[in-house]
Amino acid sequence: MDKIVILTGAGLSAESGLGTFRDEGGLWAQHRIEDVATPEGFARDPALVHGFYNARRQQAAGAEPNDAHRALARLQRDHPGTVILVTQNVDGLHEKAGSEVIHMHGALDRALCAACGLRWDAAAEMTPRTRCPGCEAKAARPDVVWFGEMPYHMEQIVDHLADCALFAAIGTSGQVYPAAGFVQEASAAGAETVELNLNATDMSRAFDSHHIGPASRIVPAWVESLLP
Ligand code: OAD
Repeated sequence: MDKIVILTGAGLSAESGLGTFRDEGGLWAQHRIEDVATPEGFARDPALVHGFYNARRQQAAGAEPNDAHRALARLQRDHPGTVILVTQNVDGLHEKAGSEVIHMHGALDRALCAACGLRWDAAAEMTPRTRCPGCEAKAARPDVVWFGEMPYHMEQIVDHLADCALFAAIGTSGQVYPAAGFVQEASAAGAETVELNLNATDMSRAFDSHHIGPASRIVPAWVESLLP
């Protein structure tokens, strides 16, 4: 099978009980992005930011992958080396389903020292007093990418987009760059593009084809259609 790049977003984990960002009542309706998802917000009120991510870490730890995560894991397992999963999600549900995934927005279960850059496994609860295990500064932060910061692994992702035959975006609103631009990059490189989402999105016109419905239903059916 030729290379497939699959980008996933919060909609993939919605049926596992994790809220999305921009759907009605989503996380960004309840919290101000400037307060909880920017380096400036963290500098202003680190306790508030840790509280927000502690709650999300606890919720993610108690969540289970759904049929969509499992179908993608099966696709990857059946086609070693050709299915590249890139996620904007910071939960660990792809891994729990058995996938290998590129976390472009970081991961809730990892911590990063804002002083020296060391990374380690995050404790369930982090506070402004949490020390870096390396330099001992009280500068521990969640290892998640905030607005105004560069997403991780971009070189590797851009290389995959340049030589994939199929690009799929699943459960993402296409509102946040650079991920929102992946469809154009893949298209320009000659890939076929497909969007799987509960609804049409602002980016729908950029895709060659669409599957509309809940991820737990449409993703397994789509994966089935790819398997010989
Ligand atoms: P959004 O909340 O922006 O979009 C979620 C998408 O999932 C929407 O297009 C919904 O229609 C779709 N959706 C909801 N339920 C679904 C279901 N059951 N099945 C299929 N689709 C469903 O989330 P993202 O696009 O992932 O970044 O957001 C991108 C980034 O914005 C996040 O990684 C986060 C956020 O700010 C940072 O925090 C840096």
